[in-house]
Amino acid sequence: MDGFKTTFSEKLKIKNMEKEIHLIGISGSLRKGSLNTMLLKEAAKLVPEGVNLEIISFEELPVYNGDFDIPEKPERPAAVRIFRDSLATADGLVIVSPEYNYSIPGGLKNAIDWASRGEDSPIRNKPLALMGATPGMWGTVRMQTAFLPVIETMGMKSVQKPEILLAQANKKFDENGNLTDEKAKELIAKKLQGLKDMILKMRA
Ligand code: FNR
Repeated sequence: MDGFKTTFSEKLKIKNMEKEIHLIGISGSLRKGSLNTMLLKEAAKLVPEGVNLEIISFEELPVYNGDFDIPEKPERPAAVRIFRDSLATADGLVIVSPEYNYSIPGGLKNAIDWASRGEDSPIRNKPLALMGATPGMWGTVRMQTAFLPVIETMGMKSVQKPEILLAQANKKFDENGNLTDEKAKELIAKKLQGLKDMILKMRA
């Protein structure tokens, strides 16, 4: 009969697998009318079942200073602690960012730097879905390429395909900020499903 019994660790595993997946989303742009923030908000609507996406901002973070990036005394600035604590709650990250000067915007890179250090780094080894939007034709491809070394050094698990490079994004949202490009929506949903699958695989 023992073969039919579910062991405690199996039960724990099943419970863990069924637990809702919590994603943290960050936009690389602070601009009120940001196309990337609109895209992130769209992604929040397209998450698969059993997944929620909470959007946080890096706008309160000071410019990185290693003198204050210490877990003990003097402890990290309050805004940094709040930011890191939020990231620590995430099973995975969704980063939606513009491309600035062919690279990662400074504000976003600064936020990543604050989150990257220490044994308790809340982004190390974390699953990631990276996306971007531009009014131009290249859809942040150079920003996403510039992100690869960050992904590598942080051991992040990036969902590579499908790539979300929303070009001519200024023509792809209605007046209420809803994405009107149905094909793009399909690809975003697929990417988020890939992120969910990756997280479940890691839990298992
Ligand atoms: C840009 N933009 C831009 N676009 C691009 O395709 N490649 C680039 O290298 C740059 N560089 C760049 C630098 C800086 C400082 C700014 C402010 C802008 C244009 C950018 O794609 C456009 O402004 C987007 O609308 C910015 O994204 P949000 O704010 O709409 O999300």
